[in-house]
Amino acid sequence: MKLGVNIHHIATLRNARGGVEPSIIEAAKTALREDILALTMHLREDRRHIQDKDLYDVKKLGAKINLEMAATKEIHDIALNLVPYSVCLVPERRQEVTTEGGLNVFAQKDYLKEYIKPLQDKGILVSLFIDPDEEQIKSASYIGADYIEMHTGAFSLAFQEGNYKEEFEKLKKGAKLAQTLGLKVNAGHGLNYENVYLMKEIPDLCELNIGHSIISRAIFVGLSQAVKEMLSLIK
Ligand code: PXP
Repeated sequence: MKLGVNIHHIATLRNARGGVEPSIIEAAKTALREDILALTMHLREDRRHIQDKDLYDVKKLGAKINLEMAATKEIHDIALNLVPYSVCLVPERRQEVTTEGGLNVFAQKDYLKEYIKPLQDKGILVSLFIDPDEEQIKSASYIGADYIEMHTGAFSLAFQEGNYKEEFEKLKKGAKLAQTLGLKVNAGHGLNYENVYLMKEIPDLCELNIGHSIISRAIFVGLSQAVKEMLSLIK
């Protein structure tokens, strides 16, 4: 199982003062020194954290970027120009603090099928951030996505409340169905140093995308150590 580190939380802090600190480039370089797969960066429509320039600066480092993005025309053009390693299509609402639910692929199957084709034609891997729901998984397979990323937000909340079995079963069942349909499976959202061990019980998960918990831990132990500790928990 590989790790993708979400570094847009660094940009949130930087943008709070409107300056250049903390540096996205320094964060990217530090994380890249560890055995991670990719840096995950969410270019939101309102540009509340990552800015367009950040993407190109990080790409110049030779990093694999997993670009989280809403399925809009503007961001599509940017993705085609940037050519990240992968994109992960997410739903986006301006009022939300973070990505609160999975993408409704079922409701926009034909639009998304058309939307992802030019990206895949450029060699970009396409992932869809969805809830572990049968209808959504089947729709992801129908449109020809390469990966799904299962939204682990509900599981993480349930874990915190000490009653995670039901949500965890949904993830296991979802992963199995997706794999049967030929999709590769990632997971992310709300994963942390306490709950991440359970992801190892889901067979053949490819990648975990983790941000908030790693960056929070980095405040106390530094980013290298925070990434190392997470890697040791998922290996
Ligand atoms: N994966 C996706 C698609 C996300 O939108 C997020 C949130 O930025 C994450 C993973 C990481 O979530 P967290 O910051 O809670 O680890």
